[in-house]
Amino acid sequence: MTSSDMDYLTIALPKGKLFDHSVRRLAALGYSAKGLSEDSRKLVIANEEKKLRFIITKTADLPTYVEYGAADIGIIGKDVLLEENRDVYELLDLKFGLCRLMAAVPEQFLKPKLSDYAHMRVATKYPHVAERFFHDMGIQMEFIKLNGSIELAPMVGLAELIVDIVETGRTLKENRLIEVAQIAPATARFIANRVSFKMKFNRIHQLVEDLKVLTESEELKCSK
Ligand code: PRP
Repeated sequence: MTSSDMDYLTIALPKGKLFDHSVRRLAALGYSAKGLSEDSRKLVIANEEKKLRFIITKTADLPTYVEYGAADIGIIGKDVLLEENRDVYELLDLKFGLCRLMAAVPEQFLKPKLSDYAHMRVATKYPHVAERFFHDMGIQMEFIKLNGSIELAPMVGLAELIVDIVETGRTLKENRLIEVAQIAPATARFIANRVSFKMKFNRIHQLVEDLKVLTESEELKCSK
């Protein structure tokens, strides 16, 4: 870590569903930068006054940036953490972005038991999660890794099943897919690089404490 790296706190933010909410939460605590937007062509956006650097990454890559210390901290979904299995500290459940990992099939393909799908093909962005799940259930399957629009796979005969996240359920409904197994719930998590957590303990610890308070107050607001 250079002295300039030591001066700055580098925060990784994921493109996609969690971006806006992550920016809002951090901004509420004074962690913001001019021009911080998902559409920004600039991928590193700094706030010189507060010695903050934001980097915007593809969701699946975010834990890698944090593991290697290219970012000190980051916000990412538990689904991605389960899939990527990176060596990072998971410091806080931020409790937004609730979704669940699940398996689904086209409605005309519904079978009585999950084991009835044995040896079929599963298309997914989450091959490790999917493999672990079916392995633990004692069901052998074939897995096909895709990078998006997973719902397309069963429509065109690439796979019989999908393993994906569902949030509102709209995508499943629009594509006439039925959930056949729940795998795990997922929310946004605050993660940190192991070395940064020690070297920049005061700054990171303070941010975690502030986020904790904010998360609790948001929860209270939602439950009212
Ligand atoms: C995710 C997921 C589903 C959809 C589920 O895709 O892969 O397609 O969201 O959300 P819903 O239940 O609210 O409809 P994402 O939008 O991240 O894009 P992708 O398909 O390109 O990965």
